[in-house]
Amino acid sequence: MARLTEIEWEKFEELPLEAKRPYLERSVGDSMPYHTLFAQQFDRPLLDRLVALSNRIRFIAKSREGSLFLKSFLSHKRAMLYFSQPSSRTFLSHLAACQILGLTTGSVRDAATSSEFKGESREDSIRTFSSYFDMIIMRSPEQGLAEKMAWELSNSDRPIPILNAGSGKDQHPTQALLDIYTLVRSFETKGGLDGRTVTFCGDLLRGRTVRSLSYLLTNFKDVKQIFVAPKELQVPEDVTAILAEKGVPFEITDDLRAATRVSDAIYMTRIQDEWDSAKGESAKIDTSRFKFGAEELACLGPDGIIMHPLPRRDEIATCCDRDPRAMYWRQMRNGMWIRTALIAATFGLEKDILNCGY
Ligand code: NCD
Repeated sequence: MARLTEIEWEKFEELPLEAKRPYLERSVGDSMPYHTLFAQQFDRPLLDRLVALSNRIRFIAKSREGSLFLKSFLSHKRAMLYFSQPSSRTFLSHLAACQILGLTTGSVRDAATSSEFKGESREDSIRTFSSYFDMIIMRSPEQGLAEKMAWELSNSDRPIPILNAGSGKDQHPTQALLDIYTLVRSFETKGGLDGRTVTFCGDLLRGRTVRSLSYLLTNFKDVKQIFVAPKELQVPEDVTAILAEKGVPFEITDDLRAATRVSDAIYMTRIQDEWDSAKGESAKIDTSRFKFGAEELACLGPDGIIMHPLPRRDEIATCCDRDPRAMYWRQMRNGMWIRTALIAATFGLEKDILNCGY
């Protein structure tokens, strides 16, 4: 049981993220999250456990018997997908993850179709969902909303876990998990992820995937981070402050080709213009040098990989799509597996799955 009941919201809200972690764990002595809200909940042992569980699940799912077996684990449970911001991959991969484990699902994809439109508070809406479901997977434009809802639910008569599927410009922990899974798998037979250089390029200011992944990478040994962006969209200080505090080497530049030459992974992102404070603000920024095309591909080493959380616009040229180093398609599918692992682990099934006969 989560221990969010032991602290008042005002006090919890003020804590640094890492100090919030124990309140969100599944049980005393097991660091696996009950509510998954931000990247700071995951350390290296936990990441290794989730990678191992994902690998196991994807192996079991290969056969018809294995798939049916996986479906039996949570066929008595229901999950609610509450997405009040656009989504394709995150929504569908969580939905598919639920289906793999047998969970039945319900969804609200637009607050205008729920009673929020009639003036119901989000707290009341969430309590409504928790009356019918056993887990809420939510995406919201509002920073910190998933956290508030997790606190509300833990303090209600019917606590159920919340998975943050993207909160404002702030965090996207499950995307960062799938990004780590992709990096770990890509370098598995090539000496591992430790000691590598990862370059982030694009809108690093408003991209929540960058904040969450940059943090998760600090769990690996000697991973250098390079941030390539126009100065208006460069990585915010809260991200680099963590790197400085943890002694992680990083570099800020506007030269994508030079960064590509020394990188093992390039993480491209789109310009997040939905956050523009004035219409057309982003369009005034010269982003032409922050796109990955044939010339950048020529700068990438033979073992290098190109990643993107997707959706993309024109920041990766389609001529890169068939190159074996383009990892964004596999990255997308990896999301389904690691989200399945996270949901299974949230429901306490890690050992049952690892120790099953498959
Ligand atoms: C990202 C997001 O929503 O933050 N997409 C995703 O979840 N795969 C990135 C983006 O929208 O650019």
